[in-house]
Amino acid sequence: MIFALFGPPGSGKGTQAKSLVKTLGIPQLSTGDMLREAIKAGSKLGLEAKEFMTKGQLVPDSIMIGLIESRIQQPDCAMGFMLDGFPRTVAQAEALDGMLEAQGLQLTDVVSFIVNRPELINRLAGRMVCSSCGASYHENFKQPKQAGVCDICGGAVVKRDDDKAEVVKARLETFLEATKPVEDHYRAQGRLREINAEGSEQEVFLRIMQAVRRSAQGVKSH
Ligand code: AP5
Repeated sequence: MIFALFGPPGSGKGTQAKSLVKTLGIPQLSTGDMLREAIKAGSKLGLEAKEFMTKGQLVPDSIMIGLIESRIQQPDCAMGFMLDGFPRTVAQAEALDGMLEAQGLQLTDVVSFIVNRPELINRLAGRMVCSSCGASYHENFKQPKQAGVCDICGGAVVKRDDDKAEVVKARLETFLEATKPVEDHYRAQGRLREINAEGSEQEVFLRIMQAVRRSAQGVKSH
């Protein structure tokens, strides 16, 4: 099972990925998490990526494609994987098609999260994340039981640097300009599954499961 979670910043991809990992037993490959890890480690990749991320821009395709190409060769991906935040440009989508095809594999579904813009801004403005396990919280809808402490792993719950209002604006613009066209790429291949990603986390989770199960059973959704 190989599928991708696709959608604008704040649409809930990371939140849903954490539940899907538990239910489906396949790993989440989040390029955003990989880049944040690299920044934390102070690696060359981290230093380079930080320049783009703090401005709400995309990290160059050549870096991102190499990162995913080596990640999907890891043993934990043998039974399938779930991409979160990749592909984000048409060039990344084409490269992914090629690397999967070379291994006799294919992406079954691209689940596209639809959320209105004011809701996205609201979700990002209040978002808090665990700096250790990446769990997502929100100042209004989902606070950790103990302020500043992750319910799951006890790590520190903090704001993300790129959730500042001016960076959020740039990220949403980048999404519309560079990332949204990826939908057409997968629509043409019959792999795009658009879901309403508003409502409770549980409601959205059920919609995703329905979208990916339908495809697993060979029934195409429209
Ligand atoms: P990345 O980390 O991938 O960020 P993103 O795509 O902008 O997505 P987010 O993580 O902001 O949002 P999300 O959809 O996961 O929402 P979440 O579940 O947290 O990328 C960061 C940066 O890295 C990029 O800007 C770019 O620079 C670089 N990058 C990464 N991948 C790249 C690539 N492939 N190519 C080039 N550059 C790349 O939810 C948000 C909030 O909403 C949370 O507070 C959550 O609790 C809340 N929430 C979730 N669901 C609901 C719900 N149903 N109702 C109410 N609240 C909800």
